[in-house]
Amino acid sequence: MRRERKATQRWAILAGPVLAVALLAAGPALAQTPVMPGQPLAFDRAKGNCLTCHDIKGGDAPGNVGPPLNDMKNRFPDRNELAAIIYDETKRNPQSVMPPFGRNLILTHEEIESVVDFLYTR
Ligand code: HEC
Repeated sequence: MRRERKATQRWAILAGPVLAVALLAAGPALAQTPVMPGQPLAFDRAKGNCLTCHDIKGGDAPGNVGPPLNDMKNRFPDRNELAAIIYDETKRNPQSVMPPFGRNLILTHEEIESVVDFLYTR
């Protein structure tokens, strides 16, 4: 009985550091793997296609028809305001060349929310 408990304790002493090292090693990989669902929605030409007009960190060959989408959380603390711009920018600016992604059914409400989540990381 005593011996068994000792064996378990020894195992725990070994397993602790082994697990810690494994988690440390996996950490950077785990942090890099997930791509937010909003990123492909924003970058895909058949979906948001935002890069055609906006510079967004992490996107290739952006256009400059619209302003760069950076520092989004600070500039748009109200996420409903940001979602509304993506839904239909012609409400704010009737002359805007930005497609009304929600009104024209290019993106669903859910997809627009994902794009907002993604933009909040830029
Ligand atoms: C055809 C070009 C075009 C596309 C595509 C486009 N936009 Fe825009 N966007 C603009 C322009 C131009 C403006 C400047 C404001 C205006 O026209 O009313 C703008 C403004 C914005 C703004 C306000 C930025 C600010 O700093 O005031 C946001 C946010 C935005 N766009 C998000 C998006 C997102 C997200 C997508 C993709 C889902 C997208 N846009 C796709 C042209 C575009």
